[in-house]
Parts: sequence; structure tokens; C-alpha cells
Amino acid sequence: MKSLIKKRTSVRNFTEETIAKGIIEEVLRDAQTAPSAGNLQPYRAYYTTDKKKIKQLANAAMGQSWIEEAPLVFVICENALESCAKYTFRGSQYATQDATIFSTFLDLLFVERGYGTCWVGAIMVDVVKMIMEIDILSRPLHFLVVGRTVGDKWGAVRGKSRRKPLHKVAIEK
Ligand SMILES: Cc1cc2nc3c(=O)[nH]c(=O)nc-3n(C[C@H](O)[C@H](O)[C@H](O)COP(=O)(O)O)c2cc1C
Repeated sequence: MKSLIKKRTSVRNFTEETIAKGIIEEVLRDAQTAPSAGNLQPYRAYYTTDKKKIKQLANAAMGQSWIEEAPLVFVICENALESCAKYTFRGSQYATQDATIFSTFLDLLFVERGYGTCWVGAIMVDVVKMIMEIDILSRPLHFLVVGRTVGDKWGAVRGKSRRKPLHKVAIEK
């Protein structure tokens, strides 16, 4: 686990290698073992390998054109209603957390298989919903962009991303 976490870093340039449908489905199945409040799994992972759609998604990510190179883009959505139906006002927080945990599992599972990934939160939600024909109850939170890495041209050097001193984020009382 430690070496896997160290291997992960945001990757923003990819080779032209495509990712087989079987791999995508297997990784998704494994990611679905993520915990979720009441096991409701109030998330949806819309995804595409279609170059035309990926270009549209890049435009909807405030024109982050590097996304166009990627062979696979997930749009990770939460479905707060599913969670609120059981947990009322707490449900919306649970849905966001559940979707985020699922996406983290998905991310690390692709890294484990030697792929590079990057989360993209700068997205125009309504435009993304139209491009991917996302159901009315699901709200896109971020993209998970996946592909085979070309070196470390842009972004952090593997395992060397700067972080705040630990005492700023972990506080013992
Ligand atoms: C919620 C979230 C949103 C992000 N949005 C973007 C984005 O829109 N564009 C981008 O290039 N990177 C984005 N990132 C990647 C961060 O810039 C990156 O994780 C951070 O700089 C730390 O670097 P590292 O992932 O290499 O450790 C996002 C990451 C997260 C978790």
C-alpha cells in the first residue's frame, strides 16, 4: 500500500495506448468494494474512451487541453437523493464522501496497473451533464483522467509533491 501511494502523482501527459474494456470493467468492479454509508453506493461513474467526447470534456474543464490526450475519462458523480432518502440532511455529505472514496479506490487501482491518473475538479457541471447525458439525479464532482504515462513532463516528480508540514494538517489533542 505504501509503495502504491508513493507511486501515485498527478499525470497530465499520456501515450496513445488505449485501455481495454475488460480492464476498465475489472477496475470498476474492484473499486466498488469501497465503503459507503449504509452501503447505499450513491455514486455513478460515467466514462468514455470516445475521442470526440473526451475533447468536449476537455473544453468543459475550462479548456484544459492536456485532457484530450487521455484515452479514458471518468466523470465521477454523486447521487445525493439516494443517500438523503435514508439519512435526510446528513445524506448529502455522505454521498460526497462515498463518491470520493470510490474514486480514490478507482484511482489507486489504475495506478497499481501502471497507469497515470489525474483528478480534475475544474469542470462546468451543466455542460458535462449534457456531453455525457448524465441522469438528472447525478451531479458530477470531478473527472478521473487515466492513461499510460509519458515520463513526468508536467506535474510533480513521482513521490516528490510538496506537502505542508504534517503538524499543520494532523493535530493531536
Ligand atoms: C478535488 C481535486 C481537484 C483537482 N482539480 C484539478 C484540475 O482541475 N486540474 C489539474 O490539472 N489538476 C487538478 N487536481 C490535481 C492537483 O493539482 C494535485 O493532486 C495536487 O497538485 C497534488 O499533486 P499530486 O497529485 O501530484 O500529488 C485536482 C485534485 C483534486 C483532489
